Amino acid sequence: MFDGQVPRDYILPVNGGTDKLIEAEADRLLARLAKVGWSRGECEFYAPITLKIRELAKRKNAVILAHSYQTPDIQFGIADFRGDSLALSEQARDTDADVIVFCGVRFMAETAKTLSPGKTVLLPAPDAGCSLSESITGEQVREMRSRHPDAAFVCYVNTSAEVKAECDVVCTSANAMSIVEGVDEDEIVFLPDRFMAGNIARMTTKRIHHYDGRCIVHETFEKETALAWKDTYPDARMLVHTESRADVVELADLAGGTGDMIRYVRDSPPEQKRFMLVTECGLSDRLKVEFPDKEFIGTCSLCPHMKRVDLRKVLQVLEEPRPEQVIEVPEDVRVPALRSIERMFELTRKGADPLKPHSNLGESSERCE
Ligand code: 13P
Ligand code: SF4
Repeated sequence: MFDGQVPRDYILPVNGGTDKLIEAEADRLLARLAKVGWSRGECEFYAPITLKIRELAKRKNAVILAHSYQTPDIQFGIADFRGDSLALSEQARDTDADVIVFCGVRFMAETAKTLSPGKTVLLPAPDAGCSLSESITGEQVREMRSRHPDAAFVCYVNTSAEVKAECDVVCTSANAMSIVEGVDEDEIVFLPDRFMAGNIARMTTKRIHHYDGRCIVHETFEKETALAWKDTYPDARMLVHTESRADVVELADLAGGTGDMIRYVRDSPPEQKRFMLVTECGLSDRLKVEFPDKEFIGTCSLCPHMKRVDLRKVLQVLEEPRPEQVIEVPEDVRVPALRSIERMFELTRKGADPLKPHSNLGESSERCE
């Protein structure tokens, strides 16, 4: 979102655009964003900039990818694709575009560059990090390897390219179980998400070691709050991201990634109206737009990193990217990181993953010292 005055040239007609074009763009925005509370006036205000972004992206053969945690103006105003980490990495791998604008956080843009080294990958908010990604370095992985020489090292996609390069295989929230079950080893070091490692450990007979990384968004959800919501809305289905604590995940009707949650809502019978989403707020907004006949109860929390992206930054990065917005991954890191990501694609069994139902909650993971 804008935080101040709109520069004058942003509200001038775009490339010979007319008031009619801007009116039509405001209509297009309103049709989507009214469902998340946007007024006609707000849509008219932002229409010149979304028009200009879309026009520039077309001229530069750029594809705009947006994670489902982005604000609705990004997801529905300018994105070519919105999705979870796995779907967006597939888009980044397969796109014919010359430029990828990643509306998301740094590790996602790095993954895109690792997969598509010949493309220009732009990150509008270069300071958009991730508490999980920043919790661990390649050096720490090397050190752990010396203590667990027989284990497979599985790292969550929310890691730097340097960490991916030191691991055997990457996973996302959408395929974590398939990957853990798919590797040959019975001993796994799962990095860096402590809670996800524990949630996986409860679903497998493999021995799982964890590290102490946490998502600053999902670690805030607590069992007592979740129970209170359940009491208030007993008819609601509770969908919990697997980055959450085990005692919250245990209460879920579905535990998985954001893509699994979208599928769950889409596949629910028409009479199932209410859902509680225990995840970042961008997903609730996305679902409110896409499923206007359903009700999404407000249990969400904001990710400050995801919310660093706004329309003005996307326009600026398309017009004239600053060096720190152009993502580079050195070849000696990219090649081994790519091997770990490609191994993930090989092992991913489509649609086989959400961790729920949790019929066999049992052993927990072990701390990887
Ligand atoms: P998914 O959308 O892949 O579930 O990822 C969640 C997340 O926290 C990304 O940062
Ligand atoms: Fe990282 Fe959590 Fe934000 Fe996702 S929601 S980017 S895991 S801090």
